[in-house]
Amino acid sequence: MEPIKVGLLGCGTVGSGTFTVLRRNQEEIKRRAGRGIEIARIAVRNPAKALAALGDAAGTVPIGSDFEAVIDDPAIDIVAEMIGGTGIARELVLRAIANGKHVVTANKALLAVHGTEIFAAARAKGVMVAFEAAVAGGIPIIKALREGLTANRIQSIAGIINGTTNYILSEMRERGLDFATALAGAQALGYAEADPTFDVEGVDAAHKLTIMSAIAFGIPVQFDRAYIEGISKLASIDIKYAEDLGYRIKLLGITRRTERGIELRVHPTLISAKRLLASVEGAMNAVEVHGDAVGTTLYYGKGAGAEPTASAVVADLVDVTRLHTADPGHRVPHLAFQPQSLADTPVLSIEEVTSGYYLRLRVADVTGVLADITRILAEAGISIDALLQKESEQIADNGETDVIIITHDTLEKNVNAAIARIEALSTVVSNVTRLRIESLS
Ligand code: NDP
Ligand code: HSE
Repeated sequence: MEPIKVGLLGCGTVGSGTFTVLRRNQEEIKRRAGRGIEIARIAVRNPAKALAALGDAAGTVPIGSDFEAVIDDPAIDIVAEMIGGTGIARELVLRAIANGKHVVTANKALLAVHGTEIFAAARAKGVMVAFEAAVAGGIPIIKALREGLTANRIQSIAGIINGTTNYILSEMRERGLDFATALAGAQALGYAEADPTFDVEGVDAAHKLTIMSAIAFGIPVQFDRAYIEGISKLASIDIKYAEDLGYRIKLLGITRRTERGIELRVHPTLISAKRLLASVEGAMNAVEVHGDAVGTTLYYGKGAGAEPTASAVVADLVDVTRLHTADPGHRVPHLAFQPQSLADTPVLSIEEVTSGYYLRLRVADVTGVLADITRILAEAGISIDALLQKESEQIADNGETDVIIITHDTLEKNVNAAIARIEALSTVVSNVTRLRIESLS
């Protein structure tokens, strides 16, 4: 049988990785897919750059800059979109679908923001949109959620799903690097997004979490409902205090089914240093999924980089090749649930979320200050799990001290109200630093 023909759009870290893996393992891939998979055309912004990246391996594959020519080519069966973003990528994907091409993409931003439109267009044309690489790089988490765990009522997902920020946090904690140096390292290794603020501000993790949440709970993708807080404002003193208290700080994506709705949030989170997620370092990702039948399952692997991501892209190319001729009605739905069965369960605002809290306050070291603070917390119904007074070297000689309070699980709006009252005390000399704590139990 003739190989299936792929048109590759974009040939940077992931595009070139896909080309390399497909070329290197072509014989095994063919035996698995039932026919060869061939990148027949490549379109990029700068063909000379792509040619330099692929070197001799490019062989006779035509590399041009005319994206439409690839998408409109009747010989192309699958369009692999490896450009990124929600601009030109959206136009090209919709045009490919309109032309009856299957699409494989690693673009989580595109699907988290425009997934509803793209999946509807694909259904109307009876084509597949496969996106394993969009979440957690090389970890087959989409396959696990959509197929492997299909018997379960999924209760929660918590994961380290951004390699760049996990790499930065590891480098800061283990090697004492400053934030900017650690970020530059992640960029040099090809982990970061074209705009790295997407990584450091938690947006990339929220894109991925939005997709997983939709698949887990059978709801539409709702990126605009996600609560997002990144690591750019995280102070190294809090990383240290957390460590002293037996915690690690990780940028976690958490989505959870509650009686009132669905939590959808990304933020720096304290987790016990004893949890498996706490020992996930560097660009590694890990996703913990809790289902009612299976209990807790954990998925771990490289979350970014050329070949780990290519592993997921090529898996999608094989899936699409196998199902190419199948009746569209018998394929796995994009979001796991039949489109007419998606639920309208509300996504909760962050004020309605319940969590433990780490509060750091800088206070004047005078009699009564702790009594005032604990009274405010008690009046707000907030129960204290631990309270510590720290004397940092820099601040001890000016009569100020850091107080760290760990609370039991509390509604976020109650904590916010208490923080406002605490910050109004004359003895509290700076804003309260507030981080969330997850037991992951
Ligand atoms: P790169 O920046 O390395 O490559 C992007 C490619 O698309 C390049 O060929 C680039 O051309 C081209 N391109 C970018 N913008 C445009 C544009 N506006 N018009 C035309 N061409 C454009 O990105 P990655 O390979 O890292 O990422 C690609 C996709 O994969 C993104 O959606 C990303 O989120 C996703 N992803 C990335 C992972 C990673 O580890 N890097 C992991 C998982 C997913 P040129 O080089 O000439 O500028
Ligand atoms: N920028 C992303 C990350 C790439 O660092 O995780 C993988 O999606």
